[in-house]
Amino acid sequence: MDQPRVVLGVSGGIAAYKACELLRRLTESGHRVRVVPTASALRFVGEPTWSALSGNPVETEVWNDVHQVPHVRIGQEADLLVIAPATADLMARAAHGLADDLLTNTLLTARCPVVMAPAMHTEMWEHPATRENVATLRRRGTVVVEPAVGRLTGVDTGKGRLPDPEQIFQLCRRVLARGAGAATADLSGRHVVVSAGGTREPLDPVRYLGNRSSGLQGYALARVAAARGARVTLVSAAVGLPDPAGVDVVPVATAEQLRQAVVEAAAEADAVVMAAAVADFRPAVYAPGKIKKTDDREPDPITLVRNPDVLAEIAAKRARAGQVVVGFAAETDDVLANGRRKLERKGCDLLVVNEVGEHRTFGSTDNEAVVLGADGTELPVPHGPKEDLAEVVWDQVLARW
Ligand code: CTP
Repeated sequence: MDQPRVVLGVSGGIAAYKACELLRRLTESGHRVRVVPTASALRFVGEPTWSALSGNPVETEVWNDVHQVPHVRIGQEADLLVIAPATADLMARAAHGLADDLLTNTLLTARCPVVMAPAMHTEMWEHPATRENVATLRRRGTVVVEPAVGRLTGVDTGKGRLPDPEQIFQLCRRVLARGAGAATADLSGRHVVVSAGGTREPLDPVRYLGNRSSGLQGYALARVAAARGARVTLVSAAVGLPDPAGVDVVPVATAEQLRQAVVEAAAEADAVVMAAAVADFRPAVYAPGKIKKTDDREPDPITLVRNPDVLAEIAAKRARAGQVVVGFAAETDDVLANGRRKLERKGCDLLVVNEVGEHRTFGSTDNEAVVLGADGTELPVPHGPKEDLAEVVWDQVLARW
């Protein structure tokens, strides 16, 4: 799609200032953006700012340029409508189909995907009225992003922050990439758990046994699931990757911590995707003080013990009826035959098999894989962005629900 047309709706919350950053990211990456602020949003950030950053006149009123019928035209022409921040009031009006200003009119006339990034105080987010409005919007196909947890306006902290603008931008990109034809929020109402990254098994306070997993594939799975409307818990053993918008991130380090977090989240999940590289072994003994070198003798050998197999445990347990369990396998040779055997041994529904080797770098943003199904299916996914593979995985999960 060249120059996708994005309508950025801004409702009246203090996080409106962060929407400037989102607007900048959108315009700099080649999107044509029209900003539609509500009257309250304009009290936080004025019209000249929106107009300068978008390079377009700003539409604020149903009653301006009436001959061009802006309340219909803006929505009809959009490829994506993103509202950030979305206040409790805006979502209430949207859920009830009110059309008392230009932005709510635009919402009613738009036929493109709609993303809302709420920001408000925790109490307002948790209020039953807001919960019901959010559920209604999600049921109708709007992607309502979970707010982030952290410092709110004033001294309090909790759930309700606008996610990082860069991460909202990434989510918007994903929704646009799926195209107008794709059902926007086809994972809506589902809770999925994804594990990502490589575990670190400590030897002493400063050393660990680790692996080269970057976590990029797991993060792509989480990002794509959120863009398709799922509630996502990301159990992350990855270090240094930013939290994707709308995703609950549970940081872990060791295989045992990862196991506990995944088992807990899986209890009420519709799918579990184990993309993490979980260490099969850990040092048998953890030295509470740093292991010192000695001049008079060689270092002691490191004894290893087995870690629990989280994937096999989750697949055997099936905490919930109909839960779909997905594993990943990295193989160096005889990829498909080894993959098939692993799929059976682990008892999962789907296994994503990657060929790895020294010539295939970890940390790449691309991937190539075959998705094997317990039902005998075999789906090759050509070399491409990890997000494309993630789309295929969720399509396959959806088909099995
Ligand atoms: N996995 C897991 N717990 C472990 C090891 C692996 O849950 N202790 C999961 C990974 O998240 C991945 C899948 O199992 O989804 C495949 O892991 P892999 O290490 O390739 O399989 P192994 O059983 O270790 O087989 P092998 O070492 O023989 O290749």
